[in-house]
Amino acid sequence: MKNIVILISGGGSNMAAIVRAAQRERWGAALGAEVKAVISNRPDAGGLAFAREHGIAAEVVDHKPFASRELFDEALAAAIDRHAPALVVLAGFMRILTPGFVSRYEGRLLNIHPSLLPAFPGLHTHQRALDAGCKVAGATVHQVTAELDHGPILAQAVVPIVPGDTAQTIAARVLTQEHLIYPRAIAQLLPTL
Ligand code: GAR
Repeated sequence: MKNIVILISGGGSNMAAIVRAAQRERWGAALGAEVKAVISNRPDAGGLAFAREHGIAAEVVDHKPFASRELFDEALAAAIDRHAPALVVLAGFMRILTPGFVSRYEGRLLNIHPSLLPAFPGLHTHQRALDAGCKVAGATVHQVTAELDHGPILAQAVVPIVPGDTAQTIAARVLTQEHLIYPRAIAQLLPTL
């Protein structure tokens, strides 16, 4: 069985889309994979309740008590490794990870970023796309490497930017596409792991 651990910081709608796809498409049978745990760095992350309701271990590793990123990442890795994952999925996980953490999961650590990388790495992607006069926005699923929001691209989705759009309307439009491409990219990658 290939275990999947998903890391979240907030609402977890991408995590929910992955869990739903896994259950609907019976990844367990078809791909020999299962979402084993959802881990949040924020105790109040909305997605934790969804995970519990779907019979998935929901855990918190709060970053606040840790004196450094390295110490937090060590505790996070210990929590992840208890589930022996083949794949670690960042789904709205809003912490920068240390190079040591990234190399530990090299080739089996995925992220979704709300822009058409390599454009707009970092934060406030939709506002920056608006400010730049872009006619399209989108999202990217990519392998995580030591450089923030870089790494081999596995999937992208493009949406139009239309007159009257705000960062919020673009975010909502992009999010519906994220929910399609992330589960699909994971399903394509799993047989290679
Ligand atoms: C998503 O739009 C995701 O692309 C973005 O946060 C949102 C999380 O939504 N991720 C990042 O900005 C990572 N730097 P969700 O919690 O509902 O899945």
